[in-house]
Amino acid sequence: MSASLLSAAPQSAQCSDRYNDVSVISPIVDLPSNLPTGRVQPAIFAHDVQMAYQTGHRKVPILKGVDLAIQPGTIQLLMGPSGSGKTTFLSILAGILTPTGGAVKLLGEDITQLSKKALAEFRLENIGFIFQGFNLFPALTARENIEIALNLKGIRGRRARKEAKELLGRDGLGDRVDNLPRDLSGGEKQRVAVARAIAQKPPLILADEPTAALDAKSGHQVMELMRKLAKEDNSTVVVVTHDPRIVDLADQIVHMEDGRLSAPDIYPSNAQPQYSH
Ligand SMILES: Nc1ncnc2c1ncn2[C@@H]1O[C@H](COP(=O)(O)OP(=O)(O)OP(=O)(O)O)[C@@H](O)[C@H]1O
Ligand SMILES: [Mg+2]
Repeated sequence: MSASLLSAAPQSAQCSDRYNDVSVISPIVDLPSNLPTGRVQPAIFAHDVQMAYQTGHRKVPILKGVDLAIQPGTIQLLMGPSGSGKTTFLSILAGILTPTGGAVKLLGEDITQLSKKALAEFRLENIGFIFQGFNLFPALTARENIEIALNLKGIRGRRARKEAKELLGRDGLGDRVDNLPRDLSGGEKQRVAVARAIAQKPPLILADEPTAALDAKSGHQVMELMRKLAKEDNSTVVVVTHDPRIVDLADQIVHMEDGRLSAPDIYPSNAQPQYSH
């Protein structure tokens, strides 16, 4: 997985013509001043992202020019009041919604330029998405919900069953594998959704309020799981949250207000970005 991330992201801007071609987006960002000097290749790069919804005869602007660069192997929190545009922005980062303006680059790929089919493949290969709410298949057990995600990646049969069980076990749900979603608590459903999204250790993990239904301990467990993926497998994690209990596990936090992002307001020393040179 890390290999696919590294191969998708050129090691230096100078050595990739394709990368330099996209002149609207600067692929390299300066690091915050409290990090060691150097330049880093962002895993997620959004430039002037705009979104407007048609409501009756009116186009209502929701995102008003959002810029964001996120380094590989870090956890980014996106916070802000209800209705400020967080889910809309996350859905655009995931290629689920097409913005009305601006560009989004993931792992060096400008996803706003991909065909529908190529985008679907890119998402399957690279993105684990955890929806606000749970989005589990109601007719499938916890284990089967995860097996489906593994099947999509070509892991089938006994191996998929074994991996699904292991993942649920790691998530503290070892004795719930055969439960249908209706027989799970809200928090358990949420943990199944998380286990499903990270089943194949995707390079990008995008999560919309993944700890909202969880008590403090389970919320921390879920975030620790994501943090492990970020630090050990170099996954890049974006979490939309209202949950102040998980702030200490973030590398960087941005706030969205009325469709605009503030500058990152923390960048603790535990962030370990990969340097391109
Ligand atoms: N399909 C749509 N059509 C029209 N308006 C929409 C649509 N989807 C979202 N909106 C509006 O866009 C605004 C931003 O919605 P969004 O779901 O991104 O907010 P949010 O920050 O995630 O809020 P919350 O914290 O409550 O989940 C809201 O005012 C919402 O009503
Ligand atoms: Mg939302």
